[in-house]
Parts: sequence; C-alpha cells; structure tokens
Amino acid sequence: MNNKIAALTQAVEEFAPKSLAEVEDFRIKMVGKKGEMTALMEKFKTVAPEQKREFGQKLNALKNAILAKINEQKELLENQVASAPQIDDMSRPGSAEQLGSRHPISLVKQEIIDIFSRLGYTVADGPEIEDDNHVFSRLNFPMEHPARDMQDTFFVEKAGSEPSADDVLLRTHTSSIQVRTMQQQEPPIRVICPGRVFRNEAISYRAHCIFHQVEGLYIDKNVSFADMKQSLLYFSKELFGEKTQIRMRPSYFPFTEPSAELDVSCNLCGGKGCPVCKGTGWLEIMGCGMVDPNVLEANGIDSKEYSGFAFGMGVERIAMLKFGVKDLRLYFENDVRFLHQFDSVL
Ligand code: PHE
Repeated sequence: MNNKIAALTQAVEEFAPKSLAEVEDFRIKMVGKKGEMTALMEKFKTVAPEQKREFGQKLNALKNAILAKINEQKELLENQVASAPQIDDMSRPGSAEQLGSRHPISLVKQEIIDIFSRLGYTVADGPEIEDDNHVFSRLNFPMEHPARDMQDTFFVEKAGSEPSADDVLLRTHTSSIQVRTMQQQEPPIRVICPGRVFRNEAISYRAHCIFHQVEGLYIDKNVSFADMKQSLLYFSKELFGEKTQIRMRPSYFPFTEPSAELDVSCNLCGGKGCPVCKGTGWLEIMGCGMVDPNVLEANGIDSKEYSGFAFGMGVERIAMLKFGVKDLRLYFENDVRFLHQFDSVL
C-alpha cells in the first residue's frame, strides 16, 4: 500500500495536462467512483488498527494533493482558453470595425456649403473668440444701439459697464467672418461663412446657447435685391426640393437695409398647413438683406461703386426641418442611437 501511495503521489506531481479533457480523465481515474482512491479506501479497511492512523493521514494527503492539482490545472487551462487568440481557424471572418458616421449638423452644413459653392461661393473661416469690433461695431451697431441686446452676448473680457470696441466676446453670429473678409479682400466677394456661435439663451427644445450658422456675403458692382432673391430661391429649391417656393417679409438688422426674413413653403404639407408650419404653410429659415452702405464704408469698400447682399441661417433649424427632429437638444447629446439614424442620409 505504501508503494501504491508513493506511485500515485508521484503521478500527481508529474501530471501536466494539455487540455481540460485530460484533467477530467485524470479526475475520473483518481477520485472517480471506480478510481484509485476508492480502491485504496477499500484496502484501508484491511489495514491493522495500529497502522490506521499513519495510513489515514497518508491517504488524506494524497487525496488533497489530487484535488488541488485538478483545480489548479483546470483554472490554468480555462484562462488560457479565454485569452488565447483564436488563430486555429484562419478562414473565420474578421470582427467588423464599428464605423462612426457624420453628425447630422455636419451633413446639413456640408450640403448648404455644396449648394452655394455651385454658385461660386468659397468658404471663409474666423475665430470663435472675437472682439466687439468684428461682431458689432463694424456691422453698424452703434455703441448705444439697443440692437446689441438682440443677441445675448457671452463676454470674455469687458472693459467696463459701457460697451467698448475692445470687449472680448464669443461671437454671436458668423457675420464677424464677413467683416474680416471685407477687410482682407477686394470685391468681388462671394463667401460663405459656416461656424459655431454662442448666445446666452436658456436651453430648451428650440434654443441652445451654442449653435451653428452659415452666413453668406456677395459684393460686386450692381448687385440688386433681385439677385439676392434669385440666389436664395435657387438655394431653397436645392435644399428642400424643386417645388419649394419662397417669400420675404420685411425685417430689421443693423447691417442690412432693406432687411428681410426668408420663408420657404412647408416641405411637409406642401404649403397646405400642418403642425410643423403651425398651419401657415411657411417656415422661416433665414435673415437676409442688402448690405448697409455704412457697413461697406466701415470695412474699406466704396459704397458708391459696390453693393451687395448678405444672409444668415441656423444650421440646427434647417436640420430640424429637413429631418423632422423636434428637439434641438438631441444634436448636442450625441446619443449614438440618435446619431446612427443619419448613417445613410445624404
Ligand atoms: N447675422 C444675423 C443673425 O445672426 C443673420 C443675418 C445675416 C441677417 C446676414 C441678415 C443678413 O441673426
């Protein structure tokens, strides 16, 4: 019996399985119902009483060694299986990469840019942190003018309680890019100015303190209101479909005179009236107007020789109308379930 125990102890020590199946065979052979341990326990019954203690201890030690070995090897092999790269089957298809998609605001912004680039506009860029001069003063907002309050401004640095041309602020519209363009370029000018803008507004389903604009500026000799109307009609048809109609309502902006709001016929109800257009059949999409001569002069352009028009629209609003999104905040939350809906758009 001593020999048997010694032989088995050695077998346990040397046992180095390569698979879980080998471990299982080993377990059955050692501690299974008809295994070695059972046979030894049978023999143990015949051991003389004075030797029982010694053999009992030896058998116990052997059993513990077997069980420990089984557990140890099992764990080792299981971990190997989990972490080993599955390279045994080279024909398995690779795991697909999750592709990102373009944000709906980027998609619409790009579409607007594409339409205007077909009319010969180029894209101009400018800083988001601006000064009062580029955002207000050179756009014909006099210092004391109440129109400055039309756009609730986030100030970064304010010289005093009174407005000053040196105040540093987050741009409230991308018209500041148009100012920079007029200062840098000789007419003819045809630029489109996309960008992020900031206004201190309460966040709701229809307003946010950050949003995106695309503004445009066209300056040349003999540019008329009719040119503006035709350009914007072309744009509206390209964006919302061939049947789209436009109308203009008188409005006010310090930098344009005359100024107008541009409405397009509701693309959902075809102009008959629905909840989206609030029964009117029309949707407001942008502000526009003939550049005020004061603005041309303030930026070094001779207003007797040149005239021009400008327009500006909110990209979120256009995207809401195009995609039927009812809550503007969705564009900022970046919930992938929302974003993936635009994977195949445009
Ligand atoms: N800058 C105006 C705004 O942000 C939009 C606009 C641009 C209106 C050009 C008229 C002409 O509201």
